[in-house]
Amino acid sequence: MKPAFYVTTPIYYVNDVPHIGHAYTTVAGDVLARYKRLMGHEVYFLTGSDEHGQKVEKAATTAGETPLELADRVVKRFQALWERLGISNTDFIRTTQERHKKGVSHIFSKILEKGDIYLGEYEDWYCTPCETFWTETQLIEGRCPDCNRPVEKLKEESYFFRMSKYQQALLDHIEANPDFIQPKSKRNEIISFVKEGLRDLSVSRTTFTWGIPVPGNEKHVIYVWFDALTNYITALGYPENTTEYQTFWPVDVHLIGKDILRFHAVYWPTFLMAAGLPLPEKVFAHGWWTVEGQKMSKSLQNVVEPNMLIDKYGVDVVRYFLLREVPFGLDGDFSHAALVQRLNSDLANDLGNLLSRSTAMAVKYFNGTLQAPAELSELDQTLKKRTEDMVAAVDACLNDLAFSKALQAIWEVVSAANKYIDESAPWALAKDPANQARLATVMYCLLELQRIVHCILSAFMPATAEKALSSLGCQGVVNQEGLNWGGLKAGSTITKAEALFPRMEG
Ligand code: MSP
Repeated sequence: MKPAFYVTTPIYYVNDVPHIGHAYTTVAGDVLARYKRLMGHEVYFLTGSDEHGQKVEKAATTAGETPLELADRVVKRFQALWERLGISNTDFIRTTQERHKKGVSHIFSKILEKGDIYLGEYEDWYCTPCETFWTETQLIEGRCPDCNRPVEKLKEESYFFRMSKYQQALLDHIEANPDFIQPKSKRNEIISFVKEGLRDLSVSRTTFTWGIPVPGNEKHVIYVWFDALTNYITALGYPENTTEYQTFWPVDVHLIGKDILRFHAVYWPTFLMAAGLPLPEKVFAHGWWTVEGQKMSKSLQNVVEPNMLIDKYGVDVVRYFLLREVPFGLDGDFSHAALVQRLNSDLANDLGNLLSRSTAMAVKYFNGTLQAPAELSELDQTLKKRTEDMVAAVDACLNDLAFSKALQAIWEVVSAANKYIDESAPWALAKDPANQARLATVMYCLLELQRIVHCILSAFMPATAEKALSSLGCQGVVNQEGLNWGGLKAGSTITKAEALFPRMEG
């Protein structure tokens, strides 16, 4: 049986249209999903939309729509963007779907029956944009400590989740599983937070209605984060013991942004503990993008829209830039200049030129028919070894979610290949028919290296890889075996590749 791999993105709020922050996590998830499929895993890749809560209700009122009308409209924009970005998700869950609502009611009832959810009264400060309650002492100058916006005092009857009860169990779990929360700096933040003490958590609201009703007490709707987090299991069919649930839960990795780590690394695991369900293997929090040095925000009118970027630069350039520019886990800055720089240097010059140069030579010297290599020289052996080492390095990097480092490892081989052309000087070999066998070997090494590079790059830049592999005469041959040296067969047809990436003015 194929090994299973389950990766998720957050489910996005529908009160906002998609921006590069959303695209970032989703592309990262896609690369992982594609890579694991390439490596022979059975992959479940989940994304979706978070449609309940006061924030969405308010946005709908402002827009003069019902919350569901708003959600139906905005969700299409997310779905269309994911399609354009080549996102290969297995499923798209909407929290307004019946399958989800059923699962949320079930897990809520289960914890309620167990006594870990109880009815009480709440009085505290609430930040609507963050959908989060804060105590007086957590506020910073009377404002939300996360987003610095004003908060309001809310007093209501509320159901509480006995989160305090799970404090030690959670700490023990974090200690026993060093990879559970990543990166390390974020793990330490969570440990300190939990050690300060977990309070019971309000998990219902009575001040608005747009949500899933509390089973048996319809005056209350279930807290939007309790509702949203549960998507990771309802998508698999929970509470039914479906094949998907059995195969894919617990999840291999929840990819999220650093702002929502506490929900994923504290709330969610304790909910699962209370429900008697296994915890996620890993929660990875990536950093935030600023734009040309500034915080991205509607009020600054500097929100970067992925569709605009795709129109301007192309899908694969955007995918590459997002994952190459900033190490996953750190904050980074988006700028058009940095993107154009990457496009011109890494993509057009290094990767694109290598392919057009070498396929042009294959056509010129051998009429586009791939020749069998003779014995490999030391130079060739070194190149082959570097390619093989790169495949192993990429695997290690992707298991650590070090996307940028993985791409760096690939580009080292691309540079080595460009250097190899200069060192082996095929144009000089071509002058003397006595060098035919040597020339054939050089061409083989060059093209075979690129076949492997594009095979692995198919996870990052699927459309580019397909074009490249097609000019190498092996389109569609993308699997784990394809990462081994020797896949190109003598006699196959090489066609001159068009420039993969047009250079752009900075
Ligand atoms: N609905 C919740 C998630 C529920 S998951 C069970 C939510 N949605 S969101 O639409 O507001 O944000 C989704 C993701 O976008 C978060 O992971 C957040 O970190 C990410 N980003 C929002 N702005 C971002 C940047 N400027 N840069 C990088 N990621 C950013 O939160």
